[in-house]
Amino acid sequence: MTRFSGVTPSGNATLGNYLGAIRRWASEGRPGDLYFVSDLHGMTSAYNPQRLRVLARELLANLVASGIEPDQVFVQSDLLPQLGALTWILECTCSFGEAARMTQFKEKSNRRELEATPVRVSLFTYPVLMAADILLQGADEVPVGEDQAQHVELARTLARRFNGAYGDAFVVPRAVTPPAGARIMDLADPSRKMDKSARDAAGVLFVMDEPDLLRRKIRRAVTDGLGRLEYRPAEQPGLANLLEILAACTGKPVRETAGGFGSYGELKEAVTEAVIEELRPVRERTQELLADTAELDRIRARGAALASERGAHRLAAARRLAGVG
Ligand code: TRP
Repeated sequence: MTRFSGVTPSGNATLGNYLGAIRRWASEGRPGDLYFVSDLHGMTSAYNPQRLRVLARELLANLVASGIEPDQVFVQSDLLPQLGALTWILECTCSFGEAARMTQFKEKSNRRELEATPVRVSLFTYPVLMAADILLQGADEVPVGEDQAQHVELARTLARRFNGAYGDAFVVPRAVTPPAGARIMDLADPSRKMDKSARDAAGVLFVMDEPDLLRRKIRRAVTDGLGRLEYRPAEQPGLANLLEILAACTGKPVRETAGGFGSYGELKEAVTEAVIEELRPVRERTQELLADTAELDRIRARGAALASERGAHRLAAARRLAGVG
């Protein structure tokens, strides 16, 4: 059983990425699991190459610092030759209509068109690269958020189709959606998910933020004028989000977190302390890893070697069956 997922370096890791995905990957880690930094996916819209490189490295360090085994992480671009080859084979397995139906593509391409920025072909083919990520590693379980479930479904369709048409090369994967909860919203706009690539980071808590900065952002978090300390996500989304964060950091059920505070200010104090303590070990370990260039290079090279070894026979089989190897 291989569980497999990726995180795209479109920005620094947020508290939402950590609580909603990375922390769970680390705590549920089993020997065959594999996690990666999907830097190639960060190229589907205008980006800065130097920043992409730095972010990919920091995210890799975040994954290891969070407790994922160093042998179970890699950076996607280290497998570029294999992934490029498999993406082509899978593009020849995928219909135009299937790719055009992807909700994320429709939304993102609409937005780009409204902003009059060009839509890159890679934005369209990105789910096929994602399928290549998954199928190359023979993953069977892919934990992703709702927004990525359709892409995993496509990977599943392509695996089945290829196996049926040419012969068995691929494990057929399925999406596993993590249990509800820990959907962390932007502190300045609780109707929006906390997003690492948000333009305005005032309401985004980053894993690498210093305690002082976390404190300031949480103090300014949007709440309401009701002065009622209860968990009511529909009426009091800002407050509910703070309670969710507190619950996720302390391990208590969210409905039990509201009691005991005299004011919103007191609650914010408690959230601040909980977030600082939750992130401190990850931030400090990440800093150590980033400072130890040789060690991080070694982890990265080993992760790449293991993942590429693991994928080699599947790519070879797919090429042979497809008549191009
Ligand atoms: N597209 C995913 C995201 O933006 C990241 C990702 C890329 C991924 N390849 C993957 C996740 C393969 C799971 C499996 O969140």
